[in-house]
Amino acid sequence: MALKLIIDTDPGIDDAMAIFYAIADPKIELLALTTVFGNVTTPQATRNAMFLLEEAGVALPVSSGLHQPRILPPFPTSSSVHGDEGFGRLKLIEPKGIPEVEPAPEFLVRMAREHKGEIILCPIGPLTNVAAAMDLDPDFCKNLNGIVIMGGSLGAGGNITAAAEANIYHDPHAAEHVFKNGCNITLVGLDVTDRVICPREFFQALALESPRIGGMLSEMTDFYINFYESIGKTNGCSMHDPTALVACVNMNFFKTELHKLCVTTSGDRIGETVSDINCARSDVKVCVDVDILAVKNKFFSNVAKLY
Ligand code: RIB
Ligand code: CA
Repeated sequence: MALKLIIDTDPGIDDAMAIFYAIADPKIELLALTTVFGNVTTPQATRNAMFLLEEAGVALPVSSGLHQPRILPPFPTSSSVHGDEGFGRLKLIEPKGIPEVEPAPEFLVRMAREHKGEIILCPIGPLTNVAAAMDLDPDFCKNLNGIVIMGGSLGAGGNITAAAEANIYHDPHAAEHVFKNGCNITLVGLDVTDRVICPREFFQALALESPRIGGMLSEMTDFYINFYESIGKTNGCSMHDPTALVACVNMNFFKTELHKLCVTTSGDRIGETVSDINCARSDVKVCVDVDILAVKNKFFSNVAKLY
């Protein structure tokens, strides 16, 4: 039976890869997308999420989330990495659908209740909606099967500052709230996602197999890879968000360790995920090593099946 999954997302180029992968893998039953700011604003994220689903010919609910971090003021979007609208230079068509009336935190709480113990929530943006869902319902964690987070870093340093990974940095207070809430959490952070790197040729080959969706990813990643080149990384782009989705259904590709994680919420190292046995909370399963080729092959072979 396929795994019921909801993605909380800020699309974003690697978010687009992750969403298409989730649509393509028969081991995943994608139930819905919820959206959050990060790479783009929340209204842009909602529009982009609906655009991706419509391009893939899939009708699913999209629920729009919170517009700013829990405590910090809003951040500028990541336009140098993902483009002004989120997908590099790709021309967006305004989606035909409309988002759910129910905001993302309420939507997540209701879905978890209606599918008790079944849903894996996979946040691939800042954890603002997830923290808010925990505030709304003390049983939210219990009602989920688990949470697989793309974010953080144990020993790989940061990607937005020297210490912080972008999704945690964009709402450190939400991340800290989520880690201390006692959920069944798996962390797919930079220790593994920054090692799964794909060059332009990977996406060009994907475009040959899947002219529409693969072609779209090839066009988007041209911009994304230009960004990586501009910071001296010349072998392609990191597959952050798709690696987290692959992990949801292929944990055997990953080596994990149990850590108690705290998030630094002030000072120079704000947004850092710190392993500390003195953090009074339950363990997080942290991915520390990865079978890089297996992740890439799994991503390619599934997305290649899309038209
Ligand atoms: O650090 C990588 C994460 O930040 C990914 O989710 C990417 O989409 C960006 O938001
Ligand atoms: Ca993302």
